[in-house]
Amino acid sequence: PGSAPADTPPWHDGDIGEVLVSEEEIATRIAALAAQVDADYAGRELLLVGVLKGAVMVMADLSRALRTPVTMEFMAVSSYGSASSSSGVVRILKDLDRSIEGRDVLVVEDIIDSGLTLSWLLKNLRSRNPGSLEVLALFRKPEAITVDVDVRYVGFDIPSAFVVGYGLDYAEHYRTLPFVGTLTPEAIARGPRPS
Ligand code: XMP
Ligand code: MG
Repeated sequence: PGSAPADTPPWHDGDIGEVLVSEEEIATRIAALAAQVDADYAGRELLLVGVLKGAVMVMADLSRALRTPVTMEFMAVSSYGSASSSSGVVRILKDLDRSIEGRDVLVVEDIIDSGLTLSWLLKNLRSRNPGSLEVLALFRKPEAITVDVDVRYVGFDIPSAFVVGYGLDYAEHYRTLPFVGTLTPEAIARGPRPS
């Protein structure tokens, strides 16, 4: 852990409490995950299913690091419940555009917190009869997990604090930070600064 790099955009000045995973660490880990996926799916074609919006950065970087031929689909889901904790009751805001029947599907997730969203999503996708169904999540909060979900590829296990950056947001802000970090209590209380 460290503080935000000096080239962090000025509108985030002082908002980042601690950098938990740096830009370099993310790049290195994604390259390693891509190599693992390539080895596991050798000779096959993968359908990456990105979960909007948080997974866009992982999706962009992982897909370009893979040598396996891929196509991409996106889903957007929203969890009923309070803003900061999910209930496991999920609503589809944007569904897949096409059938996944018989396909090798890899769900690409930003972060697994309680695991409730993912658990619901996997049940939903499984009912569409994919040939195989696995999950890649860049971040996981082991202390927060309440349901048993089988995640084949995990980037980093992190403490169960609220984090932003690399796709993760606080009220839609901070997604474009290249690292993942916590917010200061002041930034949380004040709300995000407009970017
Ligand atoms: P569950 O609890 O269902 O939640 O595993 C997963 C979803 O909740 C969001 N989430 C976060 N978003 N910083 C964020 O910006 C966080 O620390 C965080 N923890 C959970 C995220 O959308 C994830 O897919
Ligand atoms: Mg998400």
